[in-house]
Amino acid sequence: MANYEKLDHWSLKAQKESYPARSVYKLKEMDEKFGLLCPSSGPLKILDLGAAPGSWSLYALRKLDKRSHLPVCSLLTAVDLSPLSRQYDKGLFDAQNFCFIQGDITAAEIREAIHARGPYNLVISDAAPSTTGNRSVDTLRSLALAEAVLNYAETAMASGGNLVVKVFQGGDTASLLKRIRELFKTGKSFKPEACRSESFETYYLGLGRNTHV
Ligand SMILES: C[S@@+](CC[C@H](N)C(=O)[O-])C[C@H]1O[C@@H](n2cnc3c(N)ncnc32)[C@H](O)[C@@H]1O
Repeated sequence: MANYEKLDHWSLKAQKESYPARSVYKLKEMDEKFGLLCPSSGPLKILDLGAAPGSWSLYALRKLDKRSHLPVCSLLTAVDLSPLSRQYDKGLFDAQNFCFIQGDITAAEIREAIHARGPYNLVISDAAPSTTGNRSVDTLRSLALAEAVLNYAETAMASGGNLVVKVFQGGDTASLLKRIRELFKTGKSFKPEACRSESFETYYLGLGRNTHV
């Protein structure tokens, strides 16, 4: 078994806490640091891009479940090329406040379906291309996905909303950050502790979507 395939601390924790992937702790850390799913905020419309196997969606749904006393229900739309794992969701993926769209976030018909359920006040994207081992190819593909996510931030987000987008470092991330800073009051990069030490992924956050003109 290769080193990175061994069950590390985060993978074991994910199993114990019934999440299908260790990546949940990256979102949890960003949520705790930046208040993405803040309990005091009103109902949220969330878009989870590159959602499979479903840890981020499950984290958000479990947190929203605790806030179900709110008068208007929060809604979560998740999108991925692959289906979600049903191993741990205990019916949460069948709930009325959840919708899964299977398809490519860059395809026109998927774009239409995503827009129809917006505007969103939280867009989270962990979308990543299948890696080839060629770092330049992987970085370029990751940047293209991040740019597609930013198009949603531009066209399908409500004022005041927040964004998290994953990108592999090494490409033109400077222009990505520049675009985030044009769309949001604050734009920054953040590498959660649960990222594998050898991984070249990082996350960019846009906080406080500017009012549309
Ligand atoms: C690291 S995984 C996401 C893990 C997820 N956040 C979780 O916690 O379970 C990256 C996902 O991005 C998806 N993906 C890559 N390109 C995509 C595309 N063009 N459209 C939709 N999903 C895509 C992959 O299918 C993969 O499931």
